[in-house]
Formats: sequence, structure tokens, C-alpha cells
Amino acid sequence: MLSRCHSIADLRRLAQRRLPAPMFHYIDGGADDEWTLRRNQSAFQDYQLLPETLRDVSSVDLSVDLFGRKLALPFFLAPTGMSRLFHHQKEFAAAHAAEAAGTFYGLSTLATTSLEDVAAAVRNPLMFQIYILKDRGLTLEFVARCKAAGYSALCLTVDMAMAGNRERDLRTGMVMPPRFGLRSLWSFATHPAWAMNLALHPGFRLANVAHRVDALGAGAMGLIDYVNSQFDRTVTWADVEWLRAHWTGPLILKGILSPADAARAKAVGADGLMISNHGGRQLDGAPAPIDLVRPIRAAVGPGMELVVDGGIRRGGDIVKAIALGADACSVGKAYLYGLAAGGEAGVSKAIAILRSELERTMILLGCRSISEIGERHVLPLEGRRIPAIPLQSTGTV
Ligand code: FNR
Repeated sequence: MLSRCHSIADLRRLAQRRLPAPMFHYIDGGADDEWTLRRNQSAFQDYQLLPETLRDVSSVDLSVDLFGRKLALPFFLAPTGMSRLFHHQKEFAAAHAAEAAGTFYGLSTLATTSLEDVAAAVRNPLMFQIYILKDRGLTLEFVARCKAAGYSALCLTVDMAMAGNRERDLRTGMVMPPRFGLRSLWSFATHPAWAMNLALHPGFRLANVAHRVDALGAGAMGLIDYVNSQFDRTVTWADVEWLRAHWTGPLILKGILSPADAARAKAVGADGLMISNHGGRQLDGAPAPIDLVRPIRAAVGPGMELVVDGGIRRGGDIVKAIALGADACSVGKAYLYGLAAGGEAGVSKAIAILRSELERTMILLGCRSISEIGERHVLPLEGRRIPAIPLQSTGTV
């Protein structure tokens, strides 16, 4: 029950009980040996919080300005695909919960609700996550649709030249087309509520791209094949400049880890960065985003807006990211566990848990506002100091 969930870890356990194994592991898993997946969370333990005492912390302001909007919280919901697999309220659940909390919801290109339908359902600032696809015409179509629907910001995912190797999905059969073995079928049989719900509320459709495939006359599997065939390994910085020229609002590059790339992103006119390794789902061996905040802040200077994404399960993690130089954070799995556990109420619960942990951490740290959190509040564990990373660019495009 949601009321018995007191942490994101509790929501994860409830999600595991509610979802058939293939769906749970699709959320929970990472690439290859899942080293990066684990490191994303454990890296936060390498930083201690150093409190300052005897300050009046009777009121605490959690608001930030981000990507041209005032948000009530210094974290938002990262774009994640295929929400219908986890709950029938799908993307609406996350968009409504984000709206109630006064923060951004990032809608994925691979959502199961169209960007127009989500925009019509809420009034809060929305972000659309875009790819530069082989079909540049479709990317431009998204830009035009986002402008028409009133999206605040575009976030371009740049760590998806191809999909990572998610071995849990191979084992559970969560591949396209699905190949479910006995164990997975048993897990569907033992989660009848999920199966019944899918039968009662079908609606699994990659709603933003479906029209392209419908026009080609293919079926549902054709749609997945179509999307996979659209990831483009030839995309370079020149394409980012091309997108920049077409979108005048805030443009954020998601999936930057290298300080040299961060400087390059600034040079081509990106407004912000999401320092991210895609939640450990892409390049295994990639460092935890939290370890790159300081070097990237040093590379881009104070003006560029930086979001940290990956491994955030506690409000204190958000405080550490901000202390190291980030403006805000975004969370993926933390809210997807909530979505699977209880739809919109579950996403709201995940946000409420993180909000109250964040507020309590700030009070105990002696900070009344997000801008009062600074580097003096973090102390790297002895012997785990993050080496200075030289700022070098290969100079290639
Ligand atoms: C993602 N993520 C993601 N990112 C993106 O740019 N487009 C997408 O469609 C998706 N889809 C997606 C699905 C699922 C199930 C997960 C868990 C993640 C990555 C996401 O935006 C974010 O970078 C990570 O989730 C952050 O790490 P944590 O918070 O999950 O640890």
C-alpha cells in the first residue's frame, strides 16, 4: 500500500510486487554488468554533508528558476518512454503529479500519449525530449508540434546513437517483438491485476510517432522497428546547431558527461545540460553524473544551467548535486516506481518523499533556500577525491 511507503526504496518494493517481472526489470535494469547503474547511486556516498548550525531555518524555500520558468522544487521528472506498460494512467499520471508539485514533466518521444494530449491536460511547464532522427523531417515536425502545443523547453538526448545492451530485458523477453519464456509467463499469471488492467485499458501506442508508421501501413511491431531504425549514428555537433536554429526556446542537451562536450554544447548555443548517463542504461563503465558536476561547472562557468540525473533516490542526493554546482536534478526510476505502485498517487508520493527529505536535509544543514547551498556543505570522503579532469576537445565534429 502506498501509505506504507516511506522511501523510494519502499516504492520500488511495491512496484516489484505490482508489475510482472519483464516490466519491473525494464524500469530497474541497466546495461551490461550494471556497474554504472550501481555506481550512479553509490557515488553519492562518496560525499558527506557538512552542516552549519545555529541558524534560523524556520522557513525553507525550495523554489528555483530553471529554463525560463519558476519551479517550486529543484527537481523534475525526467523523460521516460512507454509509461503505459507500468500503469493505465500512463503519462497523464506523471504530468498531473508534476503539475500539482509545480515542476517540469519531461515527455519522451517514446511516450504512449501524444505531446498534444499531455499539453491539453495540464497548465504546468512541459519539456519535450527529442532525438535527431534519421528522418530529420520528423524531428522538425516535433519542433513545430511543440511550439504549437506550448512546450517550454526541448531536451535533446545525445547518448542514444544506439540502444544499450540491457541483459535483464533479454532474459525476461522484454525485447521487440516480446519473447516471453516460462518464467515470464508465470510472472504474468501471478500478476492478474496488471494483465486484467491491460485488457480493460489497452492504449499501448507510441503515440508521438504512430502516424508515421500508420502512413506506411505497418502494424504495431512495425512501429517499434520503425523507431529503432530511426536512431542515427551520424549525428554530430553540426546537427545540434541545425536544431538550435529551428527552436528558439530553451534547448537542453541530455546525456553529456565530458567537460569538453559541455564546453562545446555551450559554444553551439545550448541553454542547459542534463549531466546524465541515461540512468546506467547505455554505456556501462560511464562515470556517475554526480562526479562530473564540478568539472563540468568549471568548464562552462556560472551562466549555464546544469541538471544532474542518475541514481537520485533521496532528497539528500539532490542537496549534494546542488552543493557541487548543479542548478537542479531530475529523477527517472524514483517516479516510475511510484507510477507502477499507484499511478498518479504513486508519482505524487515519490515527489512528496523526495520533497520532505530535501527540506529536512536543508534544515539540518542550515540552509533556508536553494541558493544558500554551496560547496562548503560537501566534504568528499578521504581518499575518494575526484581527480581534476583536463578540459580537452578532440576538435572533431
Ligand atoms: C529512461 N530514460 C530515458 N531518457 C530519454 O532521454 N528518453 C527516454 O525515452 C527514456 N526512457 C527511459 C525509460 C526508463 C524505464 C528509464 C528508467 C529511463 C532515462 C531517464 O530520462 C533518466 O536519464 C534516468 O532515468 C535517470 O536515472 P535514474 O533517476 O533512473 O536513476
